[in-house]
Amino acid sequence: MDIKAYMGSASEWSGDALAVFVSEEDLGDFRFLGEDIANLISWRVSESSFKAQKDTTLWTCLFDKRVKHVFLVGLGKESQFQLDDFRRAAALVVKQATKERCRDVLMVSARDSLRGVHQAMVEGAVLGSYKFSKYKTKKDNGNEWEIERIYVKGSGESDIKEGTVFAESQNFVRDLVNEPGNVINPVSLAEKAKKIGEEGNLEVYVYDENQLKEMGMMGLLSVGGASKTPPRLIHMIYKPQNPVEKIAFVGKGITFDSGGLNIKPSDFMRTMKGDKAGACNVLGLMRAIAKMDLPFEVHGFIGAAENMPGGGAYRPDDIIRLRNGKTVEIDNTDAEGRVTLADVLSYASEQNPSCIIDMATLTGACAVALGEYTAGVFANDDELVSDFLATAKETGERMWQLPIDDERLRKKIKSPVADVVNSAGRYGGAITAAMFLQEFVGEGIKWLHVDMAGTDNTKEEYGYYIKGATGFGVRTCLAWLREKERKGPAGL
Ligand code: BES
Ligand code: MN
Ligand code: ZN
Repeated sequence: MDIKAYMGSASEWSGDALAVFVSEEDLGDFRFLGEDIANLISWRVSESSFKAQKDTTLWTCLFDKRVKHVFLVGLGKESQFQLDDFRRAAALVVKQATKERCRDVLMVSARDSLRGVHQAMVEGAVLGSYKFSKYKTKKDNGNEWEIERIYVKGSGESDIKEGTVFAESQNFVRDLVNEPGNVINPVSLAEKAKKIGEEGNLEVYVYDENQLKEMGMMGLLSVGGASKTPPRLIHMIYKPQNPVEKIAFVGKGITFDSGGLNIKPSDFMRTMKGDKAGACNVLGLMRAIAKMDLPFEVHGFIGAAENMPGGGAYRPDDIIRLRNGKTVEIDNTDAEGRVTLADVLSYASEQNPSCIIDMATLTGACAVALGEYTAGVFANDDELVSDFLATAKETGERMWQLPIDDERLRKKIKSPVADVVNSAGRYGGAITAAMFLQEFVGEGIKWLHVDMAGTDNTKEEYGYYIKGATGFGVRTCLAWLREKERKGPAGL
């Protein structure tokens, strides 16, 4: 699928489908599409129940020589516009146009003065064309159609380039998260990292189980102890000419989470191939960053392990010494993410970044608190969290801050026999997990943690999502980096 800018007028374009993004205010007046088409559409609208509400569409077949199909797609009220409305609208158009086997589509928005609208339309188009059908031996034809060209009226070249990089990166993450545990394990995940490194000119270091032992990464080793595939630490680096700042991303890379000896009940074990989503985000990020020409030195760290029961498994009651010297008492082997991330956060801190952002499908408690469509955000720095959340508003990835300043709650991660315990009871489970991670972040480093349990995966089709992995989080990180570049070192 090719995306191109279109600068002409909509009434002069000819092709398979014309997609018009309309607000509730625009409904009466389609004259900008040319008199003849405008009349037909106005009549069609008046005969329908279409009111241009968000996420609604009206399809009409024109049998006109210029355009065969017109899709109207609703954006709601103009005063309530959010960029994500345009992303979802573009995705709905792509899904429809694919069904109608269109070859080329022109997307026109009557209102396009909002900053970022064209990039959002590009992102929506690329995200909306995503499917995961590689394991279907019999292809059902309707599903295999691909739109050849999408024109976005009024778009700049940079909107197209950036939107494509962002959305392709998210699709890449979705592909990887959708791969099951028999395909992606710690070793094959590290191979993916190496491949991304080769393609994007990044430095990539992979540490195997023997090296991990020497490095004192007993958290990562213990969690991966019962798997046939041993754990890996992955370290990727993007270095520009004169970096102005060093930034680190850390991802939870549990390639499958069975719970370990504290084994999960069947219903909860389902979707646990997605427990590597944080790691996949880091891979998707590094892959995109290689194409973005940012002024930052960016480090990506992944602790990859498979959490299995077995003779080599770590146990409840075990006491483990981690990379930074702290000891952890294991209360529950299913609270494995924080045990692996502890080692990786320590290691990342040793590289002295100014800030660390970690992403992890860490706690079911986070999904209980916020629902499945909003990720929890935790941070030790107010400016970092307010910038990050402001960006998330623009990317449409719902995030909400949860507090880590409750010192009474913090006492729950203390252990009578070790420095910390890996599980602190039901109440505030997402918060105590974040507090655990904080113990392993180096002094003076700004840190932000995204708990994406729930948002990494969706059971329903919605907007630009289809069932399965969402790739949630990666676009917000990319957009945050761009915004940080724009603000400059003074933060203006
Ligand atoms: N990977 C899970 C968290 C999770 C749950 C992610 C649902 C996505 C959807 C994590 O390793 C886990 O098992 N957490 C436990 C922690 C508990 C044992 C303290 C949980 O949430 O139940
Ligand atoms: Mn678990
Ligand atoms: Zn897990």
